[in-house]
Formats: sequence, C-alpha cells, structure tokens
Amino acid sequence: MKAEDFILKNYNSSVESGSVKWESPSNIALIKYWGKKENQIPENPSISFTLSNCKTITKLTYTKKETKDFSFDVYFEGKQNEAFKPKIQTFFERIEAYVPFLRDYHFKIETSNTFPHSSGIASSASGMSALALCLMSVEVDLGTDYTSEYFNKKASFLARLGSGSACRSIEGELVVWGQNESAESSDLYGIKFDGEVHSNFNNYQDTILLVDKGEKQVSSTVGHKLMYGHPFAQQRFAQAHENLAKLKAVLASGDLQSFVEIVESEALTLHAMMMTSMPYFILMKPNTLEIINKIWKHREENNSNVCFTLDAGANVHVLYPENEKESVLNFIKKELTVFCQNGHFITDVVGKGAQLIKK
Ligand code: DP6
Repeated sequence: MKAEDFILKNYNSSVESGSVKWESPSNIALIKYWGKKENQIPENPSISFTLSNCKTITKLTYTKKETKDFSFDVYFEGKQNEAFKPKIQTFFERIEAYVPFLRDYHFKIETSNTFPHSSGIASSASGMSALALCLMSVEVDLGTDYTSEYFNKKASFLARLGSGSACRSIEGELVVWGQNESAESSDLYGIKFDGEVHSNFNNYQDTILLVDKGEKQVSSTVGHKLMYGHPFAQQRFAQAHENLAKLKAVLASGDLQSFVEIVESEALTLHAMMMTSMPYFILMKPNTLEIINKIWKHREENNSNVCFTLDAGANVHVLYPENEKESVLNFIKKELTVFCQNGHFITDVVGKGAQLIKK
C-alpha cells in the first residue's frame, strides 16, 4: 500500500463527541532500527518481539469545537502534563493529512503506563501506538467501515509517524518493519511476521533489568541522526538485511544458539554505531557490562540459551525460552539484581499486541 491509501476521505462530520480507550504494549527489537530517512522511513529493516506487561493505557475523549487550531490536553497518571505536548503536537502535524478531522475536535488524552515512568524504559512505542489506535477508533466512530487488516495497517502507519518503533506494537508476536527480501514488509508500517516460527519461541521471556533509571543521555531521535554520514552506516544497513534473513531461518528451525548470536550481535552493533559516531557516546554503564559478563558465564556453565539485548540505553533485556523460566529467574535474582538500581527489574513475556478497552 502507498501513503495516499491512508488518507481518510469521507466521514460523518456531524458527530459531536465520544471517547475511546486502548492499551498498547512496548516491543523489543531483535534486529535494530537505527537510522532513518525523511518522514520516518527506516534505513534498514527491523523485527521485534511484542511485549505483554509493559504497556500504555490511553483514553481519548473528543469534543467538537469551532476554532481551527490543534487543541488537546494531556493527563499522565491523572495529572495534567505539559512535557508530553510538543511530541504530540509534532505527531498531529505529521498525521494531519491522513486524519483530516484532527482540527475539528478538542482532545483530552488520558494516559498511564504499567511500568514506572522513570524506569528508563522508552514509552514512545507503547504511548504512540496507543494514541494512534485511539485515533483509528475515532475514525470508526465517524462512520468508516474498515477491515481489521486495514485498521491495523493504518494504526501502524500513524504510530510510525509518532515514533518509528511504535509501528511494531500494534500486533504480535513478531513484527517486521522496513522493506526487505526476507519477509512481507513495508517501510510505511509494521507487518506481523509471516514466516514459520518454531515452538522454542513460544512465550519467550524478557526480563528487563533497570540499570539506569535516569533520563536518556541521547534521545533516539538524536541517535538516528548520528547515522547520517556515519563511516560504517552503509555496511550496517546491509548487515541488518543479512541478519534478518538469518533470523528468519533461525525462527523456523528453532536453533537457539544462532538466535543468541544474532540478537547479541545486533545489540552490540547498535552500541558500536554510537561509539563510532561523531559526536560519540557510550550508553552502557559499568553495570551493563557486569550483567553481560554474568550472562555469558551463566550460559556457558549451565548449557543455557539465555541472552541479552539492549536499546539505546544502559538497561538490559534478558531474553530466554519459557522452559528456562525458573532457572534463569533464579539466576537473575541471585546474581544480576545487585547491578540494578534499587534491585529493580520487570518480568515480561512475548504478547499478541494492542487491545481495545472501550469503543
Ligand atoms: C534503539 O522508535 O524511539 O529502540 O522514530 O525517532 O521515535 P524515533 O525512534 P525510536 O527508535 C528506537 C530505536 C531502538 C531500536 C528499535 O527499537 O528498533
């Protein structure tokens, strides 16, 4: 589909008010999106596990107004929040061409996360996808009659314009975004991975170790820009295509050893890109490295398939198959929580995507 296919053309403009509510999860990339072109088009394909427990719940109430500006209030965890407004303003500006009723209503956006806000966990994927889904439900309230396929595609398309990785949070359990030769894909929206998936990946576990709960040193938006003119950019983009092809075969065969190799290499490559950009950044903390070394040691000594991945920060996502749930959780509690701020970690598992709470 093309971007123009997502322009809302006919809708019932006499609807005065209403409210909708969605919950949408975060996701964790196995092949990383890092580097983008104009209009939120990724430089390379990515694939992620959709999560279950880390999610944003958003209620959107809309009321007809006369003025022609964008008008919205944001409430985060019950309190009015000004800090989120600029990002939402930018989001509205980017999606206006596709959602023409945006200026017709005043929106009250009430949002909360199931994970602590100051945990260093990016809420942009869950937050922007929840808001995009709410706007799609408003389109339905205004009389559109969408198939669930079109609904999800446009929700993902809109979410991408809010935050790239958000387009991978609409569905589960694996979502591909960015044109590639290995899977059905698009640069414009995420698509549920259409390949075979071995049962080894059923209910895959993700325990997030909160190493650093502070504000991110570099925002993703700034981080992506570091890939412009980066000396290794083209090789990195090519590598993401190769890794996706390899991962596709691994997902089908259930070869966990190769899974571990690809996923850890992707995480370290992402950080290597930041260490070799200008300006350069080290986003890991000493405790990130302590955890990585402990994971490697545990894997070797216990014939385990536990591995790590990282976002653009110091926190560690510990990934492991369901049949190692008990042993790895024991290991985490005994040996890794000492490296977490206040011993904090979040247990999560791969999930099926966003859910409508209120029509
Ligand atoms: C490192 O989606 O947060 O988590 O499009 O600028 O909002 P924007 O960036 P964002 O980037 C996420 C980058 C990543 C890798 C990934 O999720 O694929």
